[in-house]
Amino acid sequence: MTLQEAILARHSVRQYSGRPLSENQANVLRQQIAQSNAAKNLHIQLVQRDTKALSGILAKFLRFNGATNYIAMVGHQSPLLHENIGYEGERIVLLAQTLGLNTCWVGGSFSRNRNVQIDRDEMYIAVIAIGHGLNQGRQHSSKPIETFADIKGAPDWFRRGVECAMLAPSAMNRQDFHFALLPNNTVKATARPAPFAGLDLGIAKFHFELGAGTDNFRWA
Ligand SMILES: Cc1cc2nc3c(=O)[nH]c(=O)nc-3n(C[C@H](O)[C@H](O)[C@H](O)COP(=O)(O)O)c2cc1C
Repeated sequence: MTLQEAILARHSVRQYSGRPLSENQANVLRQQIAQSNAAKNLHIQLVQRDTKALSGILAKFLRFNGATNYIAMVGHQSPLLHENIGYEGERIVLLAQTLGLNTCWVGGSFSRNRNVQIDRDEMYIAVIAIGHGLNQGRQHSSKPIETFADIKGAPDWFRRGVECAMLAPSAMNRQDFHFALLPNNTVKATARPAPFAGLDLGIAKFHFELGAGTDNFRWA
């Protein structure tokens, strides 16, 4: 499965079997996490066999079940921290899908504990539940494509980028991002200010790149 195919196959999954990640799955994820951390000055960590972080009252209310493995999205404070966490986190989410795993971004309903290392000047932004799902989730509803961009007369690669962004996860399925095609194949991506807007924007930009192809454009 390619990352592009993973975009179609991925849906948020909130119920997991107790089956642990295989050695190979954990190693591939750790390798990517190390690369993401080095590239963006992040401190993302894979945590396994933690029965507490996603079992609180709020998590139960949201019907999380059996989620004992997760990726802690931690990073050094910077103006681009949230967007970078979204971008690199979604790279890991789609990689996990190619490994036969399921995921769900969790922005608020998790409890912080000692299994996650947070160094000075770092922030713990979100977690991504990961594991063998009891189901594959289902396709989210989406706003019409015109909400996300003016695609009339736009090149195919731009439309493909927007279509892939529409399949991206977003907090409460808000999908509050927008892409503008500027002269010289430049694309400007924006998000309306809201909680998790930076995360959602980074996630959507990663999807856009996979759809559009990074050779076809550059970000404004
Ligand atoms: C930044 C972010 C935070 C999220 N937080 C939660 C959460 O706290 N609880 C939850 O059940 N789902 C959470 N989600 C999952 C969204 O509800 C889900 O991505 C959205 O409804 C679209 O569905 P899909 O992921 O199946 O495509 C979050 C998603 C994102 C991107």
